[in-house]
Amino acid sequence: MSYDNILVEQRGAVTLVTLNRPKALNALNAAVLDDLIAAFAAFEADDTQRCAVLTGSGEKAFAAGADIKEMAEKPMADFYREDYLSKWYSHFTSAIRKPWIAAVNGFALGGGCEVAMMADFIIASDNAKFGQPEIKLGVAPGMGGTQRLTHAIGKAKAMEMILTGRLMGAEEAEKAGLVARVVPQADLLDEAMKSATLIASMPPLGAMANKELVNAAYEMTLSQGILHERRLFQILTATEDKAEGMAAFIGKRDPEWKGR
Ligand code: HXC
Repeated sequence: MSYDNILVEQRGAVTLVTLNRPKALNALNAAVLDDLIAAFAAFEADDTQRCAVLTGSGEKAFAAGADIKEMAEKPMADFYREDYLSKWYSHFTSAIRKPWIAAVNGFALGGGCEVAMMADFIIASDNAKFGQPEIKLGVAPGMGGTQRLTHAIGKAKAMEMILTGRLMGAEEAEKAGLVARVVPQADLLDEAMKSATLIASMPPLGAMANKELVNAAYEMTLSQGILHERRLFQILTATEDKAEGMAAFIGKRDPEWKGR
């Protein structure tokens, strides 16, 4: 499959997806978003692919937000009638059950920051800048920014960023808990690929279940989440990969996962 606005490459069991509108700082217009849905659906459906990395082309931006030029002339009735971005949003959250990482280079603003926060975790380059500056355009975040940013960094910092449009640098983002790790710009892709390759080497059902459980912490009460965790743990004990993983440990050898 070929795409006009993104680059997609399989590197072993890792799918690397690169937003590729560098002249518009990888702004997310409808065509980019459609390409992303298709690429991630293909990743999800391909049993050889076990982890994905999403990054932006060029050094300047991961994505500078939803495409302002596309939104500028659109009437409210159209946003509402088409339930703007809802199909896209739902695709990128619960529909992607395999793990994926956002490798954030440069600006991750507005919808760009929101997409990065939909990833299972973010690895940022030292020049990364995060922000939800929608207030300066007379709107508000619309793809989860007010919720995910607040969960990630707490009310005080999230409220300050969202009300002032202030951008947060990589170092502060790591301290605040928004990103898992900061690496030099030149190493970003290698580091993200290393993490993704490591995740891809894990038992696939286990990776899916562990991801589901961490995400449940955002949706469930503590007791519901712990019950869900215990049940999935119990279910995983019936897999061939559980037998293999434990036999490999006891036999002091590397496991060979079957994904069953
Ligand atoms: C469309 C964009 C864009 C965007 C940048 N560009 N961001 N086009 N949508 N979100 C384009 C510029 O128009 C310009 O095109 C080119 O990319 C380079 O950008 P410059 O502004 O010239 O670069 P620079 O001066 O370095 O400033 C970088 C920047 C700034 C600070 C990132 O571009 C900026 O503030 N961008 C907007 C960020 C933003 O507000 N994002 C939130 C969008 S709303 P030309 O053709 O002039 O060269 C949103 C809502 C999501 O995301 C939720 C909806 C449900």
